[in-house]
Order: sequence, then structure tokens, then C-alpha cells
Amino acid sequence: MMKTIHSYWAYIVLAILIFTVINAILGLIQKKEFTHKDFRLGLFTLITSHIQLLIGLGWYFMSPWYKSMKANGIDASNRLLAVEHPTVMILAIVLITIGWSKHKKEVKSESKFKKFAIFYGLGLVLILSRIPWSNWF
Ligand code: HEM
Ligand code: HEM
Repeated sequence: MMKTIHSYWAYIVLAILIFTVINAILGLIQKKEFTHKDFRLGLFTLITSHIQLLIGLGWYFMSPWYKSMKANGIDASNRLLAVEHPTVMILAIVLITIGWSKHKKEVKSESKFKKFAIFYGLGLVLILSRIPWSNWF
């Protein structure tokens, strides 16, 4: 159940994050004004990623393989899910959250788009690098 939610919620996180990053890059290139729509997009992305964090943490400690990992330890077969996925995803969400905080302190449109492009963009790259693609879809 928790696993299913985490698995489907990932589509939403990924879609809205990609959209926000592209939107920020376009905003920069086309020197657009940062409007309420851009603000909301950044906020929705922040919230969906925080929810994903919560669901992920919940599933991590509830999952059957967590118990087996405690008993048998970490090896090459469960390293991605046990170590790499959670740490890199948490790092990505921290970057997104930092980007959100930093954009709020900026006044110029260009600077706001830049914070989103850099921090949300880095977060996206990290997330893409550690999704267990072969288990997903
Ligand atoms: C493990 C769980 C979570 C952690 C560690 C966490 C952490 C944080 C942190 C550090 C901030 C501060 C960002 C800033 O400086 O502006 C923040 C903001 C926020 N988080 Fe989370 N969060 C979690 C779960 C959630 C959940 C479940 C939701 C939504 C249902 C959520 C929604 C938000 C919102 C709306 C903001 C504020 C955005 C703003 O107006 O500045 N978070 N969170
Ligand atoms: C933006 C952040 C994240 C994204 C996009 C994401 C995405 C995914 C995806 C696509 C899967 C594969 C689901 C499947 O097998 O159908 C997965 C599995 C998993 N994720 Fe995440 N995840 C994120 C954050 C986290 C965090 C923060 C944790 C834990 C601290 C976590 C824990 C797990 C676990 C334990 C699994 C394995 C499920 C299983 O096979 O039993 N995830 N995640």
C-alpha cells in the first residue's frame, strides 16, 4: 500500500519537477517576469517532494526487506534501495527546499528563476540518478 503510493506519487513529483525546471530556464532565457503562477509552481513542487519524502521514510522502516536487512546486513543486492536511493533522494529534497528558501529572499525575477533553475535542477539530476528504474513503470 505505502509502496504503491510512493511508486505512483513519484510520477507526480517527477512531472511537476521537470516542468518547474524547464519553466525556470525558459523564464531566465526569455527574461520573463516572475509571476504568481511561477511562485505556485515552485511551491507545489516543494510540497509534493516533501510528501514523497514522508511516504518514502514511512515505507523504508515498514518494508519487509528492512527487517531482512537488519538481520542479514547490506550487500550489493540491496545497496541501491537501502542506502543510495534514500540518501541521494533526501539530499535532492534538501536542495529543492534550499532553492525554495533562497528564491523567497530574492527580489528580481531573474534571480528567482535562477535559484529555481539551479537548485531544483540539481535536485532533478540527483533524483534521476537514483530512481530504481528497473523496478519502476
Ligand atoms: C519528513 C517530513 C518533512 C520535512 C523534514 C520537511 C522539511 C521542511 C523544511 C526544512 C521546510 C522549510 C523551508 C523554508 O525554509 O522555507 C519546509 C517547508 C514546507 N514544507 Fe515540509 N517537510 C516535511 C514534510 C512535509 C509535508 C508532508 C508537507 C505537506 C503536506 C510539507 C509542506 C511544506 C510547506 C508547504 C512548506 C513551506 C513553504 C513556504 O511557504 O515557505 N512538508 N519543510
Ligand atoms: C523525490 C524523491 C523520491 C522519488 C522520486 C522516489 C521514487 C521512487 C521510485 C520510482 C521507486 C520504485 C517504486 C517501485 O518499485 O515501483 C522507489 C522505491 C523506494 N523508495 Fe523512493 N523516491 C523518493 C524518495 C525516497 C525517500 C526519501 C525514501 C526513504 C527515506 C525512499 C524510499 C524508497 C524505498 C524503501 C523504495 C523501495 C520500495 C520497495 O521496492 O520495497 N524514497 N522510490
